[in-house]
Amino acid sequence: AGTLRALADNRKLYIGSAINTAHMNNGQYTSILAEQYNMAVAEWECKHTAIAPNANTINWNLCDRIADFCQDNGMGFRYHALAWYFSLPGWFKGLNPNDKRNALTSFTERVIDHYVDRVLWWDVANEAMDDNQPDGGQTPRYRSDGALYPAIPDWVSHTFHVASRALSAKNKPFKLYYNDYGVASMDGWSRGKSNAMYNMVRGLQRDGVIDGVGFQLHINTYYDLVDGVRKNIQRYGELGLEVQFTELDVGCGEWRAPTGEMVGGDRWVPCADWGDAQASRQASVYSALMAVCLDEPNCTAYVMWGFTDRHTWLTNSRPLLYDENYNKKPAWWALRDML
Ligand code: XIL
Repeated sequence: AGTLRALADNRKLYIGSAINTAHMNNGQYTSILAEQYNMAVAEWECKHTAIAPNANTINWNLCDRIADFCQDNGMGFRYHALAWYFSLPGWFKGLNPNDKRNALTSFTERVIDHYVDRVLWWDVANEAMDDNQPDGGQTPRYRSDGALYPAIPDWVSHTFHVASRALSAKNKPFKLYYNDYGVASMDGWSRGKSNAMYNMVRGLQRDGVIDGVGFQLHINTYYDLVDGVRKNIQRYGELGLEVQFTELDVGCGEWRAPTGEMVGGDRWVPCADWGDAQASRQASVYSALMAVCLDEPNCTAYVMWGFTDRHTWLTNSRPLLYDENYNKKPAWWALRDML
């Protein structure tokens, strides 16, 4: 059948979407997901603050709902994310450094125990790199938010080692990922951060605790760094690492920020001229990235941060494959043709 899912299955490619449980009672929402995608990820439900809102509470319900949906529909499930500064619960932020390290360890082990049978790919650490890497990334600079860095100076490597040890003991297949934004292309404005991430990942790889890297790709219709994305995938391939596009969305572009990768919904410039021209630019960006992922053998998944403009973290941006009324947009047809 002419669904993205069936076409991607034939290409041995994973094509995915983020799922938000707030909309799962809507049958149209869930039937498009199961029909069009062979993998998924939780938009919020599996993050630290969602699972452990209080120091002594663990609530698997919402994350389970998405994990079970994937299992019931034969879809692969990506776990997102074991360690991310932005999704730490308040109680965690108040701990002293030593207790933080222990809390990170026990959260990682508990999540792995609970989800080992249902998860294929794990985002172990998310958004660790500072945006500003003035030396071109030779000595990677970490994002300093206080809660993870510098409180736990080695939090990335620590979490990877804990996850690798815990999963290795289980005798199940697993892939450990590092995920970030503003790092997909090794050229242009993202060069410094991309190189910094590459250098950090090489260290993890020497330790044998990483399998792949996720490029978020929150971008806009003026994104013009696709060649640099290809070269970056290739250099990770030379290390034996996989690459996945993990949070792709292509927002309506503003010429004032022509190639900017969005770093948060709040910084997005609403688009004044949404229309056919933007819709077709958007389709071209989606399909150019799909072409690269299909070409490069170590690019194993193409995951979007949702599928309908009705439900997206980016307001006034219309970044996804279906419009607000669940109609297919030119970008959907472009991906269909490419697959
Ligand atoms: C976002 C979700 O879309 C929002 O619903 C939530 O409030 C905040 O997180 N980078 C990531 C994702 O890795 O987890 C973020 O998701 C978007 C940016």
